[in-house]
Amino acid sequence: MDKLIIRGGTPLSGKLTVSGAKNSVLPILAGALLAEGPVRIHNVPRLRDVATMIALLRNLGADVAGEDTTVEVTQSSVSRFRAPYDLVKTMRASFLLMGPLLARFGRAEVSLPGGCAIGPRPVDQHLKGFEALGAEVELQGGYVRARAAHGLRGCRIALDVPTVGGTENLLMAATLARGTTRIENAAREPEIVDLAECLLAMGARIHGHGTATIEIEGVPALRGSEHRVMPDRVEAGTYLIAAAATRGSIRLLNGQPSSLGVVLQKLEDAGAAIEAMPGGIALDMAGERPRAVDIATAPYPGFPTDMQAQFLAMNTVARGTSRVVETIFENRFMHLNELSRLGADVRLEGLRTAVVRGVTRLRGAPVMATDLRASFGLVVGALVARGDTVIDRIYHIDRGYEGIERKLRALGADVRRVSEGQPTS
Ligand code: UD1
Repeated sequence: MDKLIIRGGTPLSGKLTVSGAKNSVLPILAGALLAEGPVRIHNVPRLRDVATMIALLRNLGADVAGEDTTVEVTQSSVSRFRAPYDLVKTMRASFLLMGPLLARFGRAEVSLPGGCAIGPRPVDQHLKGFEALGAEVELQGGYVRARAAHGLRGCRIALDVPTVGGTENLLMAATLARGTTRIENAAREPEIVDLAECLLAMGARIHGHGTATIEIEGVPALRGSEHRVMPDRVEAGTYLIAAAATRGSIRLLNGQPSSLGVVLQKLEDAGAAIEAMPGGIALDMAGERPRAVDIATAPYPGFPTDMQAQFLAMNTVARGTSRVVETIFENRFMHLNELSRLGADVRLEGLRTAVVRGVTRLRGAPVMATDLRASFGLVVGALVARGDTVIDRIYHIDRGYEGIERKLRALGADVRRVSEGQPTS
């Protein structure tokens, strides 16, 4: 199992190219099943989760060809409609195959999802929507089986929570339904807009994506198309936070400031000078220690839960005390114990609030990655700590951060990856 060894203390500085968005490319890869011709996807990040989605598509019989960051999906030979547990268990986004399979082939069987162990993450809203669209849904042996022998039909779906995956699954399913579907209380995340734009290029009729009400007029068929995945706002925000924590100065190329509004605001509150221009973001701490800043996660355009752990890690070395409130997921504070091992002064108040008292310095220690984003919280801690931090189980990080040691090294950090006891780079 790979580990990262980070010697902290160097301010991050330099330029970084942001990769394509993981949370956008996963639904887009699944959505390619809807088209009758090949779908070419550009700016695909090389990540474990992307490899898992490609393995799932191939397992269904789709042809996936790829070179570098471009992938082409042709679904003409799909002959199976089942996404098996051993692939699905590692990645919750596998459940996004359900909508496209059901819409295109009238049947789907997908194992109940796994993914990060961050509290109960039901799929009841997805299932409620499929049923409203006319599918018969049953749970059997850990699998969700859905059928729509005579196709789906448009309907009104009011989501109880603005679920990102649920909105995407139902949006994809509705593109081929008979009639118009209206999704209310839809999630508004930029990745949903990116998916909708890809579907529009395939010939779908969608209005209102990016707002809380999305309308989809079903069409009889979708065609092959080409799409460039948006830059990863979580990766961009993560490196900006890491730079601020280390009192550094970095410039992101290919970042998308418009998708990072509240995060940039909070970084400014922490003392960062931020310059946002189309296609890039510069952050400079002028060598100063960050100020503690309160955050509360919320659906977009609120502060993203996927950057909570990293921001909390910055607060551990900030001037002052802060409160970090997690409103989206339960059990998303697993990094607190590990950050304490580095000398952070953090405690839970109830289940959803962490109180963080900034200390002047953390000290390196062995720690364990627990989930994807929490793991980068530990990386931020390690980058500011004195001495070496060994982060175990970094397969969590590889699910969602492309070339982490390469990117951090380019910014001046002292980072090594060790595979099964052997230093590899
Ligand atoms: C997506 C992102 C993930 C991010 C999350 C919230 C992808 C691949 N993953 O995950 O990185 O952390 O959005 O921004 O895009 N819920 C229900 N019933 C449902 C579905 C969800 O109650 O049927 C609840 C969940 O338990 C959670 C909340 O809704 O409390 C948000 O979850 P959701 O938006 O669905 O997250 P994901 O789509 O899984």
